[in-house]
Amino acid sequence: MTTFRTLFSADPEGTWAAPGRVNLIGEHTDYNDGFVLPVALPHTTRVQARRRDDSLLRLHSTRGGDEITTLDLDKLEPGTTTGWTAYPAAVVWALRDAGHAVAGADLLIDSDVPEGAGLSSSAALQCAVATAYNDLYHLGLDGMQLALLAQRAENAYVGVPCGIMDQTASLCCRAGHALLLDTRDLTSRQVPLDLEGAGLRLLVIDTRVKHDLADGAYAKLRAGCERAAELLGLAALRDLTADALPAALDRLPAELRPLVRHVVTEDDRVRQATALLDAGDLAGIGAVLTAGHASLRDDYAVSCPETDLAADTAVAAGALGARMTGGGFGGSVIALVHQDDADRVTAAVTAAFAAAGHALPRSFAATPADGARRIA
Ligand code: GLA
Repeated sequence: MTTFRTLFSADPEGTWAAPGRVNLIGEHTDYNDGFVLPVALPHTTRVQARRRDDSLLRLHSTRGGDEITTLDLDKLEPGTTTGWTAYPAAVVWALRDAGHAVAGADLLIDSDVPEGAGLSSSAALQCAVATAYNDLYHLGLDGMQLALLAQRAENAYVGVPCGIMDQTASLCCRAGHALLLDTRDLTSRQVPLDLEGAGLRLLVIDTRVKHDLADGAYAKLRAGCERAAELLGLAALRDLTADALPAALDRLPAELRPLVRHVVTEDDRVRQATALLDAGDLAGIGAVLTAGHASLRDDYAVSCPETDLAADTAVAAGALGARMTGGGFGGSVIALVHQDDADRVTAAVTAAFAAAGHALPRSFAATPADGARRIA
């Protein structure tokens, strides 16, 4: 078992944890200035950390082999660090680039957030490191400031043009709540989500189809949305209302229409889901989730046969609603179910995957958890 002391010959100053997330609804809306409604998972990435007084960042992951990666913070160049170490490096780079006088650290990283499953394992890693640095170096930054730094780290250093949802979810979510975030003005509100009290369960079905945002497809979608907004003379697609959608679509080239239709209707679905949750009608959001999946499948074209099969089978087996969550191209599906139906729905999805010859999915129930925090 790797311990901090055997690795780094000293004791850690503390341990920080940051969760992965699922998004209830509001997919691919964040980079269009729209609304999102994520929930933090109980699964976290944990960082044991100790400051150094030189410029070295020494990193070890319990998921890797024995090696310690040593990076010199004075020599970090955006785009040059590969693999998982790019994420911690990016965070420290972004802190220093923003003028924070931080030096090196020894970081021992452990995680139970499934990787490549669309559950924001990379944001969890970034946010755990950002939270550790915030405390170790007494930076006094709040969750939103850290989320912006982590997003900049991913955009400018790792090179993925992601929005702000994953980092905000990992830093700002609260147990028992979903987080309604306006990604334009960055105001947010905790929306109560007492699944247990409503007799419901939120199943997460990891299809095990690897999801990777770094492959360019995400960047292409984002560019398409920005082009559409420009053609419509809008600052962002957020500024197009559902009423004005049909006329706007007529003014766009055919290939951009489905993208715009998804973003505008999806933003509307976040409003619908939030209103239902505010009214205490948790089961009512099921239909909104299922409509969201159809839009991601038919208009945004980011689902895949496995996510479609999981969502369709879950609904056919009695789920109140189901949809892929996260960026797409594989990853996970969420299904809202009555507690008594959870096992049946899970078994039906597993059987459907077996019959289709797919690798079997992994499922678990998501209990809305707390965002990043110091745990020791
Ligand atoms: C990824 C990105 C987020 C968001 C989602 C899609 O998770 O990191 O910013 O755009 O995809 O909703």
